[in-house]
Amino acid sequence: MEGNLPGHLNKDGIRIHSKDDFAGMHAAGRLAANILDRITDHVVPGVTTLELDTLIHQMVIDAGAKSATVGYKGYQHASCISINHVVCHGIPSEKKKLNAGDILNIDVTVIVDGWFGDTSRMYVAGQPNRKAARLMDITHDALFQGIAQVKPGNTFGDIGAAIQRYAEAHRCSVVRDFCGHGLGRVFHAAPNVLHYGRWGSKPVLEPGMFFTIEPMINLGRPETKVLDDDWTAVTRDRSLSAQFEHSIGVTEDGCEIFTLSPAGRFHPTWKRDET
Ligand code: MF3
Ligand code: CO
Ligand code: CO
Repeated sequence: MEGNLPGHLNKDGIRIHSKDDFAGMHAAGRLAANILDRITDHVVPGVTTLELDTLIHQMVIDAGAKSATVGYKGYQHASCISINHVVCHGIPSEKKKLNAGDILNIDVTVIVDGWFGDTSRMYVAGQPNRKAARLMDITHDALFQGIAQVKPGNTFGDIGAAIQRYAEAHRCSVVRDFCGHGLGRVFHAAPNVLHYGRWGSKPVLEPGMFFTIEPMINLGRPETKVLDDDWTAVTRDRSLSAQFEHSIGVTEDGCEIFTLSPAGRFHPTWKRDET
């Protein structure tokens, strides 16, 4: 069974965690981010998404942790791998071989000592074309526009509005059909964290809230559809889509990011700085 959950629910039904709970989230977030760091060198043309998922699952097990997604609502894999026009929840498959120039999101959620760490980032097989590189930059920066709003007294509406303003100013669209979520000792909890919205719309942010921000941004229109496998979400217009996700906690004066990349490889174009 679930057991007792920590902290208490505020008037909006959002769980408020204690200062001590941050350590558990940092440990879980650090492992998820470290796994995404270590998969980077395996993302090359010719590899299948099932091969990547198998490596990821082994890393989770070797760390003495658990995958949050294996067995979640019937999902069978330790990651979601979403290529090009796939918005999210791409299912790893031996039939999906990466082609040079593909961009992909890899999303991993682990459970460490009962705490959930959920993060995703973009990768490229080989080199991206200019449109793809631009979309990844905009999506990454949109996430950080949202994170910059996270402090007590600001609202969830401010997070969404900041992301939407940034994405639309760059002639991209924000996916409405999927959102971020509260997490902690559960995978998905209140509130839904929208990546669009109105400045000042509630609920208000409070210290001790833990949640993800995970904007999906499209080069074309925002509409999505779910394929017959009941998981894979794609853009209806087949335009390119990108996503980045961090798990964060609200502090007295801002926030802490639980899923920072220990290797500094969160941004997909970290390679650009190497040569
Ligand atoms: N990690 C995803 C999220 O960001 C959820 C994946 S659920 C799965 O919330 F079952 F598709 F893996
Ligand atoms: Co998430
Ligand atoms: Co995720």
